[in-house]
Amino acid sequence: MAGKRIERVLVTGSEGQIGSELTRELRKRYGDDRVVASDIKDSSAGGSGETGPYERLDVTDHAAFKSVVDTQRIDTIVHLAAILSATGEKNPLPAWKVNVTGLINALEIARECGLTQVLCPSSIAVFGAGCPRENTPQETVLRPTTIYGITKVTGELLSDYYVRRFGVDARGLRYPGIISAETLPGGGTTDYAVDIYYKAVEKKRYTCFVKADTRLPMMYMPDCIKGTIDLMEAGFDRLEHHGDFNVGSMSFTVQELADSIRRHIPEFEVAYEPDYRQAIADSWPASIDDSAARREWNWSPDYDLETMTADMLDILSKRNALGKLYG
Ligand code: NAD
Ligand code: SER
Repeated sequence: MAGKRIERVLVTGSEGQIGSELTRELRKRYGDDRVVASDIKDSSAGGSGETGPYERLDVTDHAAFKSVVDTQRIDTIVHLAAILSATGEKNPLPAWKVNVTGLINALEIARECGLTQVLCPSSIAVFGAGCPRENTPQETVLRPTTIYGITKVTGELLSDYYVRRFGVDARGLRYPGIISAETLPGGGTTDYAVDIYYKAVEKKRYTCFVKADTRLPMMYMPDCIKGTIDLMEAGFDRLEHHGDFNVGSMSFTVQELADSIRRHIPEFEVAYEPDYRQAIADSWPASIDDSAARREWNWSPDYDLETMTADMLDILSKRNALGKLYG
């Protein structure tokens, strides 16, 4: 099956951390009118409703989801609507409903309507007890301890099932923690790696909810956007994997992150008050083997910790000077 041309894209969860920036980039690439943004909430000032078509859509409502796909003549779904790890642990059932029912709705609609593609991100949260923490391989035991991780393993298996059983072109990549300066993250365990930059600029001190030596894989938003679009546009015939590509970029402890900020803000101080998110972080890999993504669709990140820190602090300091740090 050769990859078909992408004509009209629906982005679900478009008002979130990744959706807000991915929608903007997809509109640049394909044209504003060919990318329909959607979220369960209204688009606010500066949101994706201002630059192109916008639909208020709850992805757990199959009929409403299908109606948007039909009326907007969608052929590709970029499915970002989700509940992340920390929020999911507080209330597991809604996480299951949004992450699993939402995805199966997208896949069923793709099957029913013969869509070109469904792309749904997975996460490093699929890993857990029993897998190697360093250079975690593509193929290894998947035994997550969070409801979020359980929904993400389920999502990968569902995506692969729809490829094999129904010939749906379903794709996904296991993002590490995503760091960005535009939209604040939405309730994940890796949120500290974003918050630390805001607090460094705002107060020159930060209280971190995981310990100093906690090491996790992370990625800067420009690489996340590039990788996602590269996977969307990769020829289907080249892909041996589908819903579960490991993608690595950088890996650092909180201490190393704080040190990189101190090279720009020497007086920056960090205190540590670990909470329930420490156990989640400890269950995830420290670094990722992404050789399958590199081989099958030429994945190659551009940023490391130092270049990301310089860029983040530059953007946030300029906004802070205008009194608009949080937008
Ligand atoms: P986010 O929490 O910032 O955004 C998710 C969006 O989904 C929100 O705008 C929310 O309003 C929306 N949403 C929630 N329930 C919905 C529903 N029922 N119907 C429609 N919309 C709904 O999340 P994000 O960080 O942008 O994540 C996007 C995808 O990437 C998710 O699949 C997530 O699991 C994955 N991911 C993110 C990270 C990260 O660090 N940000 C890491 C790994 C994987
Ligand atoms: N950044 C995400 C989270 O912490 C990982 O999927 O939930």
